Amino acid sequence: MKALMQTGYGNLKENLEIQEVAKPKISADEVLVQVSHASINPHDYKVILGEFKRTEKLQFPALVGSSFSGTIVAVGKEVYHLTEGDEVFGVAEGAVAEFCKLKHSKLYLKPRNVSFEEISTLPVVGMTTIQAFERLGGINQGDKILIHAGSGGVGTFAIQYAKIKGAKVFTTTGTNNVNWVKKLGADVVIDYKKENYLDICSSMDIVFDTLGGQYTFDAFEIIKSGGKVVSLLPAEINKQVAKELNMPKLIAFVFSLRPSKIKKLVKLKNAQYEFVFMRPTANNLSLIASLIERNKIKPVIEKKFNFRQSVDAFIHLSKGHTKGKITIQISEA
Ligand SMILES: NC(=O)c1ccc[n+]([C@@H]2O[C@H](COP(=O)([O-])OP(=O)(O)OC[C@H]3O[C@@H](n4cnc5c(N)ncnc54)[C@H](OP(=O)(O)O)[C@@H]3O)[C@@H](O)[C@H]2O)c1
Repeated sequence: MKALMQTGYGNLKENLEIQEVAKPKISADEVLVQVSHASINPHDYKVILGEFKRTEKLQFPALVGSSFSGTIVAVGKEVYHLTEGDEVFGVAEGAVAEFCKLKHSKLYLKPRNVSFEEISTLPVVGMTTIQAFERLGGINQGDKILIHAGSGGVGTFAIQYAKIKGAKVFTTTGTNNVNWVKKLGADVVIDYKKENYLDICSSMDIVFDTLGGQYTFDAFEIIKSGGKVVSLLPAEINKQVAKELNMPKLIAFVFSLRPSKIKKLVKLKNAQYEFVFMRPTANNLSLIASLIERNKIKPVIEKKFNFRQSVDAFIHLSKGHTKGKITIQISEA
């Protein structure tokens, strides 16, 4: 089969190429999927740039990609609830390929009212959003929530999800995106190129921090006492981050001894802080499917690439200005 392969760490153009490789062999609890569409996420290109070198060891050439949609072509002998021909979506290592294999617990049946392309965009961003809010104990009706980067893959899902839950949604984005992000349902859209969100947001119940670094520390300035901050990027390596990233126990222990700025801020604001690293579950995927079936969430696609243009898709995403999601069509319709 043909697959996009990572050949080393560093520059995306030099370390990605489509190669002919063996079709994956499935074990008893896995299925083999013929991929229709893949949709890439920042983690996919950050792996190639080498950002996870220490925690995710790779042997080259390595498969790339995560979110996909497609059709099951083989099922392992311990998979009883799925069958060949089932249309599915989920998260697999090596989704930018003609075929991918994965455990049955990392996929779910594709809703009928959307295309393969549309549903391929949602697994990572949808599950990340669901898990982030779950970790905080959920969203209450009327909560004031700031969602950073509302025009990004995660942001476009998170805005719609928070509105379903009855939150008042504030979001940040650049000038060109302000109008369409408002149409997604955000109540207050802050143009980060012209305005300072710290002057506009105060007494927030929740900050959904998709940017990390100083944005994480500043979140504590604008939450109310007892407010909550959830981050997708670690601003510092502390005990919770080390645990979430599955770092070895000894390393986690060493980090737990270091002074933590976040710990101080949490105490000061009587706040809850969580760093979340998304882990795929069929439960979360079934929730995404049901939101789609009830027309509660609309996938947002900026740009479509074909398989031969996969490297360009990675380069486009890595510029950090994607509006919603980009997709790669793997199989010819
Ligand atoms: N921990 C986890 O499990 C997990 C899961 C998913 C994602 N993530 C991480 O979360 C981050 C967001 O993911 P994503 O998929 O949403 O990324 P993305 O789609 O690449 O985000 C791009 C968007 O971010 C906006 N943006 C950039 N800088 C901004 C700023 N300073 N203020 C406001 N908006 C800004 C851009 O708008 P403009 O073009 O207007 O600048 C663009 O629309 C990534 O770093 C990703 O690695 C982590």
